[in-house]
Amino acid sequence: MSVNVVLGAGGPTGQECVKRLLEATSEKVRAVVRNPSKYADVFSKSDRLEVVAGDVTDESSLRTALEGAKGVIFAASGVGYWSAKPVDYEGVVKTAAAAKAAGTVGRVVVVSSMMTDPANRWHPVRILLNNIRYSLMDYKYKGEEALRNSGVSWTIVRPGGLTKGERGKSIITAVKDVTKEVGMGSISRADVAAISVEALTNPKAANAKFSVFCKKPEEPLGGDYNAHVASLFG
Ligand SMILES: NC(=O)c1ccc[n+]([C@@H]2O[C@H](COP(=O)([O-])OP(=O)(O)OC[C@H]3O[C@@H](n4cnc5c(N)ncnc54)[C@H](OP(=O)(O)O)[C@@H]3O)[C@@H](O)[C@H]2O)c1
Repeated sequence: MSVNVVLGAGGPTGQECVKRLLEATSEKVRAVVRNPSKYADVFSKSDRLEVVAGDVTDESSLRTALEGAKGVIFAASGVGYWSAKPVDYEGVVKTAAAAKAAGTVGRVVVVSSMMTDPANRWHPVRILLNNIRYSLMDYKYKGEEALRNSGVSWTIVRPGGLTKGERGKSIITAVKDVTKEVGMGSISRADVAAISVEALTNPKAANAKFSVFCKKPEEPLGGDYNAHVASLFG
């Protein structure tokens, strides 16, 4: 049975990715966290789920974590003021290298941010985010660039502001390959997880970046959620 891997699986988006993989696929899920004991009772029990130790700053731990992986979702992000370079940038570089070394990985999906592109360098939100953690947006963009040039099949998911809400509450907008931010809408982490899981296998998501958000006011989603998510990549 194939295995899909979530890096930074203990974060709120990572947890949603694990949940979505378990419900939307019949494959195994490997949740990679820095300290598995911290997450002993967090993930739902499933014989398809394993929780293992791994740190995106440590390439050898990634090589172990990605052994035999089919899809990889990078949902990690640094903790602490100086963490953007080692985690959000170099962590992606190391993940791409480990994915290549594994030889089994069909796609690496990175959860990034709508504001990363330098075309938005004077946007007040980007400036703020770069100051909350040192150069966070600049380093996330460097991570995106490294992934794009890594030779692995990739998708970059750039969400607007993340919320705790349920998935499928509103129609999602996904805009491909833009540089300038296209709408300051927010989106639930559960929706981002569904998009990221879909991106692992959707051929139209290969080697492309998507800004994803829900418009305000919310536009209720009437139809089938899975079909809506599958249609987002064009
Ligand atoms: N908040 C927003 O509105 C917003 C908007 C757009 C994009 N984003 C981006 O979306 C992504 C997901 O955000 P989120 O709020 O769900 O997550 P988050 O709170 O930033 O958590 C990410 C997780 O990464 C893990 N982590 C930290 N350092 C690590 C390392 N060296 N190796 C492996 N894992 C590590 C941490 O878990 P442990 O401490 O347990 O290891 C943490 O729980 C982030 O990249 C974020 O910047 C956020």
